[in-house]
Amino acid sequence: MGKFEVMNHPLIQHKLTIIRDKNCGTREFREVVNEIATLLAFEVSRDMPLEDVDVETPEGTAHAKQLSGKKVAVVPILRAGMGMVDGILDLIPAAKVGHIGMYRDEKTFEPHEYFVKLPNDINKRQIFVVDPMLATGGSAIMAIDALVKRGVDESNIKFVCLVAAPEGVKNLRKAHPGLDIFAAALDDHLENGYIVPGLGDAGDRLFGTK
Ligand code: PRP
Repeated sequence: MGKFEVMNHPLIQHKLTIIRDKNCGTREFREVVNEIATLLAFEVSRDMPLEDVDVETPEGTAHAKQLSGKKVAVVPILRAGMGMVDGILDLIPAAKVGHIGMYRDEKTFEPHEYFVKLPNDINKRQIFVVDPMLATGGSAIMAIDALVKRGVDESNIKFVCLVAAPEGVKNLRKAHPGLDIFAAALDDHLENGYIVPGLGDAGDRLFGTK
């Protein structure tokens, strides 16, 4: 079974409070979402494998470490996941980026896939699927399905979100038991498809639409 972790570092919690505020405007929302994404990436990458390497410093040989595992791909679920990409690339600049477009039917909340474009070697990479919201879990489940269909092993995927609803966590874990899930907060419940208290519609708040 993959793990589910709430990343409750004080900086993450503080920044999350800023974007939960309904008076936080588009510009600040966008900035702070990226800042949180950077902090989440730092926490989520803790278990990246290392190998020994000798490096010549100006004073001699250091027995040091370097990353030895799979290369990384960041895969945002469009649209709102886009808001987390730059923040993660700040920390892992060499990562490739894939895109999975998904929208929820406004009445049924059923997800619909409308776009998939991934790096060719996606099944050899460590993948961070990012989306600010895990509500019913439908979009995340379908996005992971799209990756698995293309040969990705779900143990190589980490799902990273800002706010999760208990229902979404349960549904996603049931559909993809091997997946690791990371959130900045686990909220109370879902109401009419929205996370309560949540932070509203992340896509609309990021892009200034409504
Ligand atoms: C929102 C959000 C997630 C999804 C979560 O996207 O960004 O992708 O809903 O809900 P779920 O867990 O119930 O599937 P939305 O469909 O509003 O699209 P957008 O990102 O383009 O605004």
